[in-house]
Amino acid sequence: MAKVLLENVTKIFDGDVIAVDKVNLEINDREFMVIVGPSGCGKTTTLRMIAGLEDVTEGKVSIGDNVVNDVLPKDRNIAMVFQNYALYPHMTVFQNMAFGLKLRKFPKAEIKKRVEDAAELLGIGELLKRKPKALSGGQRQRVAVGRAIVRNPAAFLFDEPLSNLDAKLRVTMRAELKSLHHRLKTTSIYVTHDQAEAMTLGDRICVMYKGLVQQVDTPLEVYNKPVNRFVAGFLGTPPMNLFDGQLELKNGDMYFVNSAFQVKCSQSVKQKLSEYSGKNVVLGVRPENITMTPPQGQTENIIESTVEVIEPLGDRVEVYFSTKNNDRFIASIDPDIPVKIEDKMNVYINADKFDLFEPGDTGKNLTLA
Ligand SMILES: Nc1ncnc2c1ncn2[C@@H]1O[C@H](COP(=O)(O)OP(=O)(O)OP(=O)(O)O)[C@@H](O)[C@H]1O
Ligand SMILES: [Mg+2]
Repeated sequence: MAKVLLENVTKIFDGDVIAVDKVNLEINDREFMVIVGPSGCGKTTTLRMIAGLEDVTEGKVSIGDNVVNDVLPKDRNIAMVFQNYALYPHMTVFQNMAFGLKLRKFPKAEIKKRVEDAAELLGIGELLKRKPKALSGGQRQRVAVGRAIVRNPAAFLFDEPLSNLDAKLRVTMRAELKSLHHRLKTTSIYVTHDQAEAMTLGDRICVMYKGLVQQVDTPLEVYNKPVNRFVAGFLGTPPMNLFDGQLELKNGDMYFVNSAFQVKCSQSVKQKLSEYSGKNVVLGVRPENITMTPPQGQTENIIESTVEVIEPLGDRVEVYFSTKNNDRFIASIDPDIPVKIEDKMNVYINADKFDLFEPGDTGKNLTLA
């Protein structure tokens, strides 16, 4: 097992497409790191550079204590699990799992032991004689993982390994991978565009956008303290609500103001942001921080809204509102609260449960210390 270190790693394709831009990322020994971001942000390219399947244009990739920029993929002692599983159709499950060991000239008895142990661990011991076409999607996925496990590598690399499975199986397999990591503790780097997968699997997550690392931290820190508007909007379903407006000082208090409503800032935010008075900012409020009834006597932080769409999900209800100036937003509320389409409601933004961002798609979070 080993740590993996990326220092200023850059990939430029065809002389001008900057796919990965000076990425610095340290994955600790035994850690499960998830790289998450929208399509095209450079996740796969980053992973392929770690695997050695893609040259590094600039920067350094280290595995353990060795810089591996010039080490061939087969000599990097890592195992990759791909989205499409890449199983050999003419080989049995056993042969698929044994293939890498056979290439490396492991003794027969050792191969048998490793394959059987991994199959046991993954619950596919009964399937060793079958060919891939006689397996379900989830079983194929387990074989692909098994093929990585038998190599006992320094690190696992996963590229969207669950994206070909249906929603329910994806959740089951996600839990299996987590439990597997708990038992094996092999350093893992897992790429996905699915923020729920990232939040649930990662010891830490690395959010990428446009080839750049935006934030690296534990899932809860990233969720609760997003460094910028992109990260804030990317994590969470339904996503954070974002409203354009300005900051204004009124009677000694700082307010976020737009043509439909205003929200009062705490004293600490006021002090932090005194120089932003009069400037354009973006207010970010998570759907769970909007309450249907303001606390008694509360006159601040209220949005006059109209219910547009109601989506009951059983344990909660997602309500789509519009404001007076036709901004849309979503609140996630308790199913016992009565709401009907076209209801006019005064909803309440919980005091201090919001963020303020500079304008622009990666505008920085102004409310963080
Ligand atoms: N071989 C290549 N030649 C030129 N450009 C490439 C090549 N491979 C990837 N790119 C470009 O590099 C950027 C990053 O691609 P990458 O495959 O790393 O994205 P990704 O984050 O894995 O996206 P997805 O979620 O869609 O898999 C994209 O703009 C892509 O078009
Ligand atoms: Mg990809």
